[in-house]
Amino acid sequence: MLSWDNTPSVAAMRRERAWIEINLSHLSHNVRSLNAKLAPNTQLMAVVKADAYGHGAVTIARTALAAGATWLGVATIPEGIELREAGIQAPILLLGATNTLEQVQAIAQWQLQPTLCTPEQAITFATAVETLGQGSPLPVHLKLDTGMSRLGIAWDNALGLAQHIQASPHLHLASVYSHFATADDPNPHTLTQQTDRFRHAIATLKNHGITPPMLHLANSAGTLVSPTLHYDLVRVGLALYGLYPAPHFQDHIHLKPVLQVKARITQVKTLPPNTGVSYGHRFITQRQTRLAVVGIGYADGVPRLLSNQMQVLIRGQAAPQVGAITMDQMMIDVTDLPPVQAGDVVTLLGQDQDAWITADDWANTLGTISWEILCSFKHRLPRLAIQPSDRPTPVLSHP
Ligand SMILES: Cc1ncc(COP(=O)(O)O)c(C=O)c1O
Repeated sequence: MLSWDNTPSVAAMRRERAWIEINLSHLSHNVRSLNAKLAPNTQLMAVVKADAYGHGAVTIARTALAAGATWLGVATIPEGIELREAGIQAPILLLGATNTLEQVQAIAQWQLQPTLCTPEQAITFATAVETLGQGSPLPVHLKLDTGMSRLGIAWDNALGLAQHIQASPHLHLASVYSHFATADDPNPHTLTQQTDRFRHAIATLKNHGITPPMLHLANSAGTLVSPTLHYDLVRVGLALYGLYPAPHFQDHIHLKPVLQVKARITQVKTLPPNTGVSYGHRFITQRQTRLAVVGIGYADGVPRLLSNQMQVLIRGQAAPQVGAITMDQMMIDVTDLPPVQAGDVVTLLGQDQDAWITADDWANTLGTISWEILCSFKHRLPRLAIQPSDRPTPVLSHP
């Protein structure tokens, strides 16, 4: 892990070219707003996998826990270890699959909690925990496939696995859970089917004397659909970061985007009409054009497919990006803006005065989802945490 130099001069240098600002007040607002929506006794898991959807896992995890989340969710063992090494003690669920003896050792050593989906996995885990001789049983979470057709044991075939876990002195069944495939779809058909299957599977376990201490089913969308889906815990990712799983959820809750992407103008020039711009001359000036060169490109995670299709904000006004986005730079047509100069800040994603550009705007243009946009920013862009009235400070993250 990179150790950061926190001196102001280094912090300033990090804002010289291009950077990401992480608004921790917005994150706390989102956590509190989500918690206020939860059914009584439901806990909030902050899903911080993939470096907290590109926001910087350690800082996001700490802030979410301070604002009221009680669990953390990661995809991989190294993601869990990063949180533990930072001194975070909250329970951490590994949402991804783990299978090998070495993985079980790491899980036990770092007090992570694995997801189990197959009898073979349960045997491996029980054997490995016995070999480790660590005394207490390892908490494990049984995942049901109720219709996502991804990780999980078939919802109507889970009894044997649950009994196996229950019978092992080395494993402790900490929860049973499942994951929605279509909770963001206004048509509730599949969600209802998955919920019915989940209920049915839990009833079968209970009929055989197995009462899991915790049940959970809802992601961000499921959490916003109805408190009846909250059970003991909700696993929220996207909404934490201030984005809506689908537009219709905007009526349910007020969320504030946490991440902003900014860069500086590095040069301003005037081009005559009929001049080609950038690789392939995919933009030709139609008039005398003032062009701003900006120091951010696809190697920072701005999708090249947005070339000639995105806008940026400068001093609160929108301006079109023109020509192919290159590895480290892109060009903006600033002809219609009041004069701009090298050093001016350009907002690619986020708020500038009253104007906003969101990850959903990019996702809609590209025919993808905001989750992918958030996860696409490279670590070449420093993440700077901001609180109101604070100077930006680096967010602990990978280099
Ligand atoms: C198992 C599981 N639970 C919860 C989440 C959080 O989903 P969302 O970001 O839609 O809230 C994810 C993310 O993909 C997941 O894989």
